[in-house]
Amino acid sequence: MLNDIKEIYFSKEQLKEITDRIGAQISRDFEGKDLILISVLKGSVIFMADLMRSITIPCRIDFITAQSYGQSMTSSGNVSITKDISDNIEGCDILLVEDIFDSGNTLQRLSDYLATKNPSSITLCTLLDKPKRRDPNVKLVPKYIGAEVEDQFVVGYGLDYNQKYRNLPFIGILKPEIYNAKQHLFNQETKERV
Ligand code: IMP
Ligand code: MG
Repeated sequence: MLNDIKEIYFSKEQLKEITDRIGAQISRDFEGKDLILISVLKGSVIFMADLMRSITIPCRIDFITAQSYGQSMTSSGNVSITKDISDNIEGCDILLVEDIFDSGNTLQRLSDYLATKNPSSITLCTLLDKPKRRDPNVKLVPKYIGAEVEDQFVVGYGLDYNQKYRNLPFIGILKPEIYNAKQHLFNQETKERV
């Protein structure tokens, strides 16, 4: 796995600084609120686990899964929800926790969907932001952003390429030859990422 990484983008220590900083901000901003963290699976799972441990106010957690159809490395804008949250969020303050804000289509779709369940507020939190790749139709701006990244494909700390590398404890840039060699790995029948 390590051989497939060109360089480390964020070390374990840098990721801890990021989650501690955002956790402290969230703890201040949501004091006295009925906070529910909703993790966008699967990519945000490690960020979510660290972030929630750096939050010092009471909160609940839930999970949602979105599937974007299209090529394996880009989001088509055609996002469907494949696993829903389990709790009633009416009147609650939602913090939607994502791994990376890329085109922005996933968070746009999810926040529009969650808004139909009448929460009191929806706030977006993303570990990484790739502003250069934003879909111009997406007007959302995450309130909490861990760090910006250049337009490069990154993996580790929850982020995957073809479901691999999520368990790396740091975030690294994948060697381009890895994804160039594996482009055929997306399912021709369903057009779904594999
Ligand atoms: P969006 O809908 O284009 O904002 O896509 C967001 C999703 O695309 C993220 O939740 C990731 O799963 C995936 N993604 C975008 N860029 C990267 C990357 O550099 N590495 C791994 N996954 C990525
Ligand atoms: Mg993801």
